[in-house]
Amino acid sequence: MGWFSADMQTMNDLFMHSLQDIYYAEHQIVKALPEMVAKASDAELKKGFQTHLRQTKGQIKRLDQAFKKLKAKPEGTKCPAIDGIIDEANEIVSEIDDKMVLNAALIAAAQAVEHYEITRYGTLVAWARLLGRSDVAKVLNMNLKEEKATDKKLNGIAKRKINRKAAARRRVRPDAVRRAENTMLVAASGIPSV
Ligand SMILES: [Fe+2]
Ligand SMILES: [Fe+2]
Repeated sequence: MGWFSADMQTMNDLFMHSLQDIYYAEHQIVKALPEMVAKASDAELKKGFQTHLRQTKGQIKRLDQAFKKLKAKPEGTKCPAIDGIIDEANEIVSEIDDKMVLNAALIAAAQAVEHYEITRYGTLVAWARLLGRSDVAKVLNMNLKEEKATDKKLNGIAKRKINRKAAARRRVRPDAVRRAENTMLVAASGIPSV
């Protein structure tokens, strides 16, 4: 369904589209999180991702409840925004070897996801209230609160340790590696190095 197609003309249509958008997004996040758990080398961060994976599965159940309350079939609609955020995260993460820098990248990627979710749930809660569905708003607000708490937690881990540790890492320049290898070769051959 396109944003301005004939089948989406009312606020209610717009609300349902956005609900389907976040439903799709949450499913993509459930698929992406195990990889982040596997890649995180900091114990606190790994545990944080595991907790959020559990929460995300619970959030999908709440969305199922929201659809039920609205007497609509739970279904997703493709959301290019979350696909883009996850694709970009995978691309960046695949290019990083240093474990601590990788942890910093994982937090940044996860926060981009959380911020996306916060903006979507914030809108959905406001619209549900506007449409007289405070029962649905209440369920969606629980997800919103979890996303905000997760973002805050990630921020804390990044600021307290990960970013500093990552910044302390020094890049090993390829020419420095080559020089070290040459020195070792020379030493092994018994020729005095210069
Ligand atoms: Fe979520
Ligand atoms: Fe989330």
